[in-house]
Amino acid sequence: LLQLWPVLSLAKSTCNENEQVDVKRSDFPDGFLFGTATSSFQVEGAYLEDGKSLSNWDVFSHIPGNIENNDNGDVADDHYHRFLEDIEIMHSLGVNSYRFSISWPRILPKGRFGEVNPAGINFYNYLIDNLLLRGIEPFVTIYHHDFPQQIEDKYGSWLSPQMQKEFVHLAKTCFENFGDRVKYWATLNEPNLLTDMAYIRGTYPPTHCSAPFGNCSAGNSDTEPLIVLHNMLLSHAKAVKLYRKHFQEKQGGSMGIVLHSMMYEPLRDEDSDRQAVSRALAFNVGWMLDPLVFGDYPAEMREYLGSQLPRFSKEETKYVKGSLDFIGINHYSTLYAKDCIHSVCVLGSNHAIRGFVYTTGERDGIMIGEPTGNPRFFVVPEGMEKIVDYVKDRYKNIPMYVTENGYSPPKQKNQRSQDLVDDVKRIEYHSGYLSALARAIRNGADVRGYFIWSLMDNFEWLDGYSVMFGLYYIDRQTLERTPKLSATWFKNFLTDNTSHT
Ligand code: NOJ
Repeated sequence: LLQLWPVLSLAKSTCNENEQVDVKRSDFPDGFLFGTATSSFQVEGAYLEDGKSLSNWDVFSHIPGNIENNDNGDVADDHYHRFLEDIEIMHSLGVNSYRFSISWPRILPKGRFGEVNPAGINFYNYLIDNLLLRGIEPFVTIYHHDFPQQIEDKYGSWLSPQMQKEFVHLAKTCFENFGDRVKYWATLNEPNLLTDMAYIRGTYPPTHCSAPFGNCSAGNSDTEPLIVLHNMLLSHAKAVKLYRKHFQEKQGGSMGIVLHSMMYEPLRDEDSDRQAVSRALAFNVGWMLDPLVFGDYPAEMREYLGSQLPRFSKEETKYVKGSLDFIGINHYSTLYAKDCIHSVCVLGSNHAIRGFVYTTGERDGIMIGEPTGNPRFFVVPEGMEKIVDYVKDRYKNIPMYVTENGYSPPKQKNQRSQDLVDDVKRIEYHSGYLSALARAIRNGADVRGYFIWSLMDNFEWLDGYSVMFGLYYIDRQTLERTPKLSATWFKNFLTDNTSHT
């Protein structure tokens, strides 16, 4: 602990003065889940072992030029072979939960028309059993971007209603095999962000895009993203319906969804930009939560997208509405929102699918917060309180979990590993965001958990291994895990109930 004092006092001195950083575990309710998060493709590796089939991300990342430095997930953090060591690491941190995802091609290599892969099931059984032995609750995401490539080739994945059946089959396989021990299920990770990247910007597989964004290798349509998200919502709702009917009573778990939850501030102190903030939130978070809580898309979306926006049938509305036991919030950053109905914006933002909003991290040459390794993520701790309050107020204070929050340093070539390990900025980030979260909870938000993204540096999608979110540094040659200062900070936070500042 002594060793940490200089770091922590530095963390305070460089922090925004308004931001309290003296947060402690006892500021959070009893039974609160504190954990770290990962996803299968980003950490597992073993991409062709023990019967796993190729995922869409295996195929995509193997195409030269798609990923920074032509990185791929073949080995990743080799978590598939090192999960016991990783559990020990988590145990040493003192977390009481771990959020991870199931690799779809590992347990159902051919989707619903093939056999269940016993080796894949065994892997997750070992993982779950060993977590529980260490007092760590598994918090499982059923789908986090990777699915068998065969499903893409066969139907065009999320564009097809067939995908709903595929997903329900996956979910059922998970409930049957793991549901006796898993009590927290998140159906889909960030469907909103995924739709944006894969069907609007066209940068994630299958690289479709929406006019006038990007330069698409395949497909270009305004309605595709709306259909994709519609299919995802129905997949979620059908899986929840199945769980409630056949599993929930016996297994006693709860089900939710995980959202990419950016917060927005008006670019100018003007009504039009304040309305742009409401539209940005409605078109991002509301796109999923309004249907899942109230049974239909937000009125703002109907207003601007008209008949392009799909409709839920009466029957569908019945099970879509109320299909959440909890809401998973992935929150990293806040952006400015500018109205693009009354003013001229950059290409793309004047488009209905964006809600006629332009978002940016910069105003008059000044950034909204310190930059990070993602050009759209800035350090804005108070955004955590605001997004939680927004979700609480708009969605009846349904229980929430912060399923991801994390910091990556700005990219630098040939960065010294020691500098990456001495991650004072990450400590500052988490203490600031945790303070803001504690304030939201004090003001009545029903938040029940907080997961740091990520346990260890891992495959950060298009950025490969060049963007690092981990509490642990990974040597890319030896795959050795080294705790960063933030790991020690988190451990102290979890074990120590007194203030650090
Ligand atoms: C959200 C995604 O769920 C995760 O896969 C990603 O690595 C982090 N954000 C950081 O960008």
